[in-house]
Amino acid sequence: MLRSLRIISPSGFNRTRPRLFSSLRSLTEQDVSHLASILPSTPIISTFSPFNNSKDELDSFNTDWMKKYHGNSTTVVKPRSTEEVSQIVHWCWENRVAIVPQGGNTGLVGGGVPLKDELVINLGNMNKIRSFDPVSGILVAESGCVLESLSEYLAPKGHIMPLDLGAKGSCQIGGNVSTNAGGLRLLRYGSLHGSVLGLEVVLPDGTILDQLSTVRKDNTGYDLKQLFIGAEGTLGIVTGVSILTPAAPKALNNVLLAVPNFSKIIPIFRTVRAHTSEILSAFEFFDRTAYEIVCRHGHRRPFQEDIGDAQCFILLETSGGRKEHDEEKLNDLLGTLMNSEENLITTGVLAQSPFQFASIWAMREGITEALTKEGKTYKYDISIPSGSFKDVIDEIREHLRAQGVYPEGGVKAVLGYGHFGDGNLHLNVVTDGYSPKIASAIEPRIYEIVSRYRGSISAEHGIGSHKTGVLHYSKGEVSRAWMKKIKDLFDERGIMNPGKVII
Ligand code: FAD
Ligand code: MLT
Ligand code: ZN
Repeated sequence: MLRSLRIISPSGFNRTRPRLFSSLRSLTEQDVSHLASILPSTPIISTFSPFNNSKDELDSFNTDWMKKYHGNSTTVVKPRSTEEVSQIVHWCWENRVAIVPQGGNTGLVGGGVPLKDELVINLGNMNKIRSFDPVSGILVAESGCVLESLSEYLAPKGHIMPLDLGAKGSCQIGGNVSTNAGGLRLLRYGSLHGSVLGLEVVLPDGTILDQLSTVRKDNTGYDLKQLFIGAEGTLGIVTGVSILTPAAPKALNNVLLAVPNFSKIIPIFRTVRAHTSEILSAFEFFDRTAYEIVCRHGHRRPFQEDIGDAQCFILLETSGGRKEHDEEKLNDLLGTLMNSEENLITTGVLAQSPFQFASIWAMREGITEALTKEGKTYKYDISIPSGSFKDVIDEIREHLRAQGVYPEGGVKAVLGYGHFGDGNLHLNVVTDGYSPKIASAIEPRIYEIVSRYRGSISAEHGIGSHKTGVLHYSKGEVSRAWMKKIKDLFDERGIMNPGKVII
């Protein structure tokens, strides 16, 4: 039996988790052989004999995308069916072995990697599409389907996924549902709480909960599936997803605007909404620091004109039913913005080809990766009123200056970007390296600021292991107590992703 574990989290908070792993045990060589014998077709990667994989071979399962969180799992299983997931989970329940469900491992809060030596159940082999109804647009897919491959499957059928994110080439639909991922289309198609119609979930004792409904309307009591959307694998393993997919828009356009300063963005947003109304599908923001970083790391500068000291950028997208109609609206909009007496914009580019359209999006989506080339980044994904984005970025920058860590002392840049139309700011602090000193210079100040705005400390990335200790900034005592009751109700043995979300 393991005793209490003292965890020094990468965010710099020292937390003692007395009971978290105390009733759980580590996998042994015999356990892994047993699992292999009862599930011979399930691929296993393990440092134990007879597999004898090296630690390096497990590294990509033990380490997150940012290389900020590191676990020490000895074993990864990659089941091929719900039945196999159920049998593995049931065995873990009986034997009190902790599990980390893992999708594409693109999460940004440490939710998908072990804290210790939990068994990793990776869903990558559950990648079949079960059905698609071209009349209703309802898609039923296994949870390990990669988001981009679902989009590719739907394209010739005239449909799109209701969500899109920069990680689309690796993240899985089960991971998206489990994090309640937001992304670039939320402004138009809403959150997964609306578009997910049903789920199939393996509960912590191995029971299969079949809620894979394919109807749009279902008022038959408590909507249990909602509990698993955003649960980050703490209540069960999602194995199947039924999701409503919108019809593909006939016309897509995007525009990149260089904006003199932040105070212009609210009037621009109002003008854009007034001109584009129902066809507006994205309104994304990034500041000059983010722009310079993404250009420095390989993205071509998009403007032909000199943008002077433009301080921020807006990417707006329209998607509608008729090309000419949408272009007319956009041209009117651009004329209004260019000729505005308040000098709302410095300049803008309207994509003239699918290549330019993709290139404008690549710039926005490329920021996250560009930051990894710049240094090690502390990421804060917060909901606050959109008009206060700049104030919050400036306040943190000045705070770090006062703490003596910026511009010298480890912090290289403080920048912001995000989903302006959704009130979701990604505040990023780029550093020379992760260190408790810098973490404690940023936290809890950032959470205090969010709570002052009555915002959310996690708009779309989740809580993972990063924010378990600071949940109280967004959730009151009563809410946290009920979250814990729900966790205990589903998982009284605490095997399912321990140390994540609520502890
Ligand atoms: P993982 O990282 O593997 O897991 C995430 C969490 O879900 C973990 O807690 C894990 O235990 C749990 N989980 C995974 N699969 C299952 C399952 N089948 N059943 C139960 N639990 C499961 N996020 C956004 O919201 N919006 C964005 O715009 C966005 N852009 C991104 C861009 C980049 C470049 C990167 C690297 C990340 C981005 N993210 C974004 C974060 C991330 O991609 C999302 O959180 C995504 O939904 C995670 O999916 P995944 O399959 O990689 O899950
Ligand atoms: C984004 O909007 O680009 C993603 O949420 C990833 C990030 O925050 O870097
Ligand atoms: Zn985002």
